[in-house]
Amino acid sequence: MRIPIIAGNWKMHKTVGEAIDFVTRLQEELGEWEGTEVVVAPSFIVLDPVAQRLKGGTISLAAQDVFWEEKGAYTGEVSPPMLRDVGCRYVIIGHSERRAYFGETDETVNKKVKMALSHDLNPIICVGEFLEEKERGDTFNVVERQVKEGLRGVDAGTARQIVVAYEPIWAIGTGKTASPEQAQEVQSFIRGIIGDIFSPALAEVIRIQYGGSVKPDNIDELMVQPDIDGALVGGASLEVESFARIVRFERK
Ligand code: PGA
Repeated sequence: MRIPIIAGNWKMHKTVGEAIDFVTRLQEELGEWEGTEVVVAPSFIVLDPVAQRLKGGTISLAAQDVFWEEKGAYTGEVSPPMLRDVGCRYVIIGHSERRAYFGETDETVNKKVKMALSHDLNPIICVGEFLEEKERGDTFNVVERQVKEGLRGVDAGTARQIVVAYEPIWAIGTGKTASPEQAQEVQSFIRGIIGDIFSPALAEVIRIQYGGSVKPDNIDELMVQPDIDGALVGGASLEVESFARIVRFERK
């Protein structure tokens, strides 16, 4: 049984005050919520104050990125031990915006994944194809390369901590969601690749999220699919009401 995981990627939104207000209201709104893991991913400087507010509760904290070294002369970077220290349980790695604007490659994603795992941080590894790649019929090739390269050399003993987020780039922030069937097809393919890399048994416990214009009005149909174990939500995670509704997706 895979526990569903709904994560809010706040990207470059919310000051400390706005973030504290948000998580306080989210906790009130959700109450003693069980059965779905809820994660919020604020910007680096907002992590610590949000962690203080989340203490003792059930909402988990994620960072939006991490560096692949423990410490050293890497101006501007943040290490896995620093993220653990402020209470992060998850870290988003290889988001398409980082790949597009900040030179993230399959190789850097892989280094970050291994470093995160060695510090007991659960990576949320983002994969997904561009519109041109989809139109060329390359979706499966692209996703296979990203998953294989991202997981290269990862120890099977730690692999169950991994979450994969399938985020077709053409669906991010565009209002165009992949249909539940399209997402299911790719996510079942991803589970197959994970099975080949590790073992089918391990692939059965690793959670695969869908991301890209997830909203209160499409979450239910997405979550019905057998290989969609949750969502990585951008825009709709910024308002308490819409995020809470996504967390409370209808179980069929
Ligand atoms: P979106 O973003 O929900 O705004 O499309 C998803 C993401 O980038 O993780």
